[in-house]
Amino acid sequence: MKLTVVGGGSTYTPELIDGFARLRDTLPIEELVLVDPAAERLELVGGLARRIFAKQGHDGRIVTTADLDAGVDGADAVLLQLRVGGQAARQQDETWPLDCGCVGQETTGAGGLAKALRTVPVVMDIAERVRRTNPRAWIIDFTNPVGIVTRALVQAGHRAVGLCNVAIGFQRTFATMLGTEPREVHLDHVGLNHLTWETGVRLGGPEGTDALPGLLARHGDAIAADLHLPRPLLDRLGVVPSYYLRYYYAHDEVVRELRTKPSRAAEVAAMERELLKLYGDPSLDAKPALLAKRGGAYYSEAAVDLAAALLGGQGSPYQVVNTLNRGTLPFLPDDAVIEVQAAVGPSGPVPLPVPALKPLFSGLISNVAAYEELALEASLRGGRDRVFRALLAHPLIGQYAYAETLTNELIAHNREHLAWA
Ligand code: G6P
Ligand code: MN
Repeated sequence: MKLTVVGGGSTYTPELIDGFARLRDTLPIEELVLVDPAAERLELVGGLARRIFAKQGHDGRIVTTADLDAGVDGADAVLLQLRVGGQAARQQDETWPLDCGCVGQETTGAGGLAKALRTVPVVMDIAERVRRTNPRAWIIDFTNPVGIVTRALVQAGHRAVGLCNVAIGFQRTFATMLGTEPREVHLDHVGLNHLTWETGVRLGGPEGTDALPGLLARHGDAIAADLHLPRPLLDRLGVVPSYYLRYYYAHDEVVRELRTKPSRAAEVAAMERELLKLYGDPSLDAKPALLAKRGGAYYSEAAVDLAAALLGGQGSPYQVVNTLNRGTLPFLPDDAVIEVQAAVGPSGPVPLPVPALKPLFSGLISNVAAYEELALEASLRGGRDRVFRALLAHPLIGQYAYAETLTNELIAHNREHLAWA
């Protein structure tokens, strides 16, 4: 089996390599290609990747290259984990929306739209090249904003599935709280990428008994503290929101906090400098502890599981993925991309049925899905008015004066990445 990682020079890659090495029975990789235009980074990351494989007795070959076409040629699956403009662009996304009193975040609100605008054209070009060389390859997209990027890919007919680690994170946390194995915990997980709720926590499988009421009763305080949301809010919702919902439920509080502390991009950039220094040490042959301070916990496990299921291996039969709605949430268009549990096999994900959602959840999902549709339009076709309309439709923006200012800011800060601007 051949797997290609686009953005393979990311400081995150050792996390992925560690997962590939540990879980090699689930996903037997013969050749792993790391593609990245940043030669120096790629060499450091590739060197550590080879040492991790050697240390763990994995005999797969690791190839590094800047040549995308060569890298994806013959691949069974292509993982996308790139960041157009790097942490510098993220720093901007996290900063200028704050001037309007709006959240500055890499995937939510105006910053997320900026990221979509920079990223979608690049990903579409990569996907076209994958399809040309290798039409049967599966594309696994980690590249944010995952919902919009996956929607772009699947609407263009690519064999693509979007992946995020929020669900696997909850699965692990809940398993520990319940004193059971993660594979026994099946989440009723519903919404859009970075806009999801756990509406049930079933034991043993999708039809298992729901442990969520008991979990909330016994561990509600710990869950709320983790999310930085008040416990009574969780009780009133009756479900567990992802931490990205805090940008909605506590928007103004988050804005106040963000204004007083260094951006996440700055923190991550500092960590990346440290990590690259560590990776250059030839005696290092495991992922360093510092990597755990990044947000991507368990993403290697999720990736291995998904690739294995798609490629006919030993992956879990049910997984939380980003895929076409196709009637699963009847209040959304069929071609929206949703994040839900799906049965995953070699012909792709098929969402499991979702019980009717209360307006408390379906309302926000509808609103953000409409924003995502407009964001995708703007990303594919460009133009100031399309950017303005997407911002106006976003539930965290809404007012024309803000949408106007944010449109100007977005374009001013991203001109070099926007072909039409
Ligand atoms: C979580 C999210 C990812 C996001 C990451 C950010 O893993 O699911 O989509 O990219 O956090 O982590 P970072 O360490 O870059 O802030
Ligand atoms: Mn994510």
